[in-house]
Amino acid sequence: MNTTTAKAASQTASPSAPSSPSSPSSPAPSLDPAFASSAATPVKVAVIVGSNREGRFGPVVAEWLLARVRAHEGFEADLIDLADVDLPTSLSFRPSAEVVAELDKVTPKLAEADAFVVLTPEYNHSYPASLKNVIDWHRDEWEAKPVALVSYGGISGGLRAVEHLRQVFAELHMVTVRDTVSFHNAGALFDDEGAHRDPSVAEAAAKGMLDQLHWWAWALRAAKEARPYGS
Ligand SMILES: Cc1cc2nc3c(=O)[nH]c(=O)nc-3n(C[C@H](O)[C@H](O)[C@H](O)COP(=O)(O)O)c2cc1C
Repeated sequence: MNTTTAKAASQTASPSAPSSPSSPSSPAPSLDPAFASSAATPVKVAVIVGSNREGRFGPVVAEWLLARVRAHEGFEADLIDLADVDLPTSLSFRPSAEVVAELDKVTPKLAEADAFVVLTPEYNHSYPASLKNVIDWHRDEWEAKPVALVSYGGISGGLRAVEHLRQVFAELHMVTVRDTVSFHNAGALFDDEGAHRDPSVAEAAAKGMLDQLHWWAWALRAAKEARPYGS
């Protein structure tokens, strides 16, 4: 395979690593009632499209990803497209009415989500300012929730953006799931209709990542019902 047109890759488990959490369709062990009740309720996942650039490629990857999330058992998906949100970079405890209106487009969706999938391109070896801005405008909405990271870009597939985001999300008391989906030289991987030209590797990576995200969301939601985070 030509490395400059590498297919979507995931950080797959090494042979010595424990196997991935089982999918939600696996037989459930006998559970504490809080965990059993959490298992029966779909996980609300907010898919965040991190790029808002004019002429961006992000929506192609977002559509592909959303189809995988919707096909995965146990999720209820919502979309947050940062191109639809115009937040200033100057943070404020007393935002103007205009800023409050912009926050209203995104804050309730973040608050309601049990889990997130963040879709990030790589800009100058990191993630875009639009993503940092929406992260910094919020705090409690992120806390004690899991986040899965999907990246795209040039030859690196956005992997540097992903590793930077892990550091940021740790500060917000979030769990970043281990496996990712990355699209290297993304433009060449999809046809004009937005279909992945050779999707098997990317689909397997997305399945593994979403299984892990679902497990963490289930576990953290039930744990928070039993005991508020930080108490
Ligand atoms: C400002 C800027 C910086 C970029 N820096 C990198 C980079 O450091 N590494 C890389 O692999 N691709 C880089 N790219 C390529 C983008 O990752 C690629 O064009 C991607 O499709 C951008 O996402 P978007 O179209 O959704 O905005 C950069 C693109 C832009 C616009």
